[in-house]
Amino acid sequence: MFVCSCFGITEQQVKQHAENGACTPRQIASACKAGTDCGGCVRRIQALLGRGACPRREQIAQRPPVLVPAAAEAPVRRLGDAA
Ligand code: FES
Repeated sequence: MFVCSCFGITEQQVKQHAENGACTPRQIASACKAGTDCGGCVRRIQALLGRGACPRREQIAQRPPVLVPAAAEAPVRRLGDAA
């Protein structure tokens, strides 16, 4: 079934691009131009990506959060301090 009628892109093609690493509508557009003309298909592409078409998205969601040290814990260096 066609997802993007402007460029003749099918649901299967979008899923294939997602399997190859395109996890956002913008990345799908870069891969096959879908969504770059009238834009009427962007919501359908978002829905496909949200339904698990992109395996990398789940891998990213399962990663532990990146902890960044608070600014108060970072050493303060001033101009003129020895390196
Ligand atoms: S239907 Fe996809 S850009 Fe128009």
